[in-house]
Amino acid sequence: MTTPRALVAGNWKMNGVAANLAEIEKLNGLIAEGGANCDVLVCPPFTLIHQSLQVADDRVDIGAQDCHANFSGAHTGDIAAGMLQDQGCKYVIVGHSERRTDHHEHSELVSEKAKAVQETGLIAIICVGETEGERDGGNTLPVVTTQVRDSIPADATADNTVIAYEPVWAIGTGRTPTIADVAEVHAAVRQVLVERFGDSGNTIRILYGGSVKPENARELMSVENVNGALVGGASLKADSFYGIIQAYD
Ligand code: PGA
Repeated sequence: MTTPRALVAGNWKMNGVAANLAEIEKLNGLIAEGGANCDVLVCPPFTLIHQSLQVADDRVDIGAQDCHANFSGAHTGDIAAGMLQDQGCKYVIVGHSERRTDHHEHSELVSEKAKAVQETGLIAIICVGETEGERDGGNTLPVVTTQVRDSIPADATADNTVIAYEPVWAIGTGRTPTIADVAEVHAAVRQVLVERFGDSGNTIRILYGGSVKPENARELMSVENVNGALVGGASLKADSFYGIIQAYD
């Protein structure tokens, strides 16, 4: 079985103005000096994508945090996948729990967005994860596997799909699941991917996200079927983001 090359992805969320591009510059330097044994991605807000692409060197990919499911049209304030591709983005995050909550996005819409991303030639990072209530109710596995099944478009391929498992209660809280819990959920997601894509489902990256920081990254990244991280808060500073990248050395 081929283990996919890990991906450490930063999600800046609604943070960052031009001055923060210095963090990408700093990240370039840290990687140039110390290397990176994984793919590295930064997803800044839309307003910084163009400048981020100019600043990032070729070891740092730039992606977006969301897009519309349609390719163009009367959707005031929205951004289409083709616009992101035109800028030079390589990945688009879809279905982040903050989108699912703040904008009532359900898996059917997430699947349509992922389809738009993939048909544009970009890679969709599809986010899934249970709430605290769902975990406490013993429903984590059915909730997460159903989200994975329903959020992956029918004609997705193993090459244009990344899954990010992010327990909602672990995002931005400093709390993380136990290593055994992470292993259990990632194994269940892997099983869905293999059912869906056959053997190549083993090559799809499954990221863990939720309070990843330099101090816990090594342990989390060593769990079977964890092929990288989706990082929020700790991605805003080059030093802490690079500390997570160093979990792969
Ligand atoms: P966090 O966010 O690392 O700040 O917990 C993770 C995410 O929402 O992707």
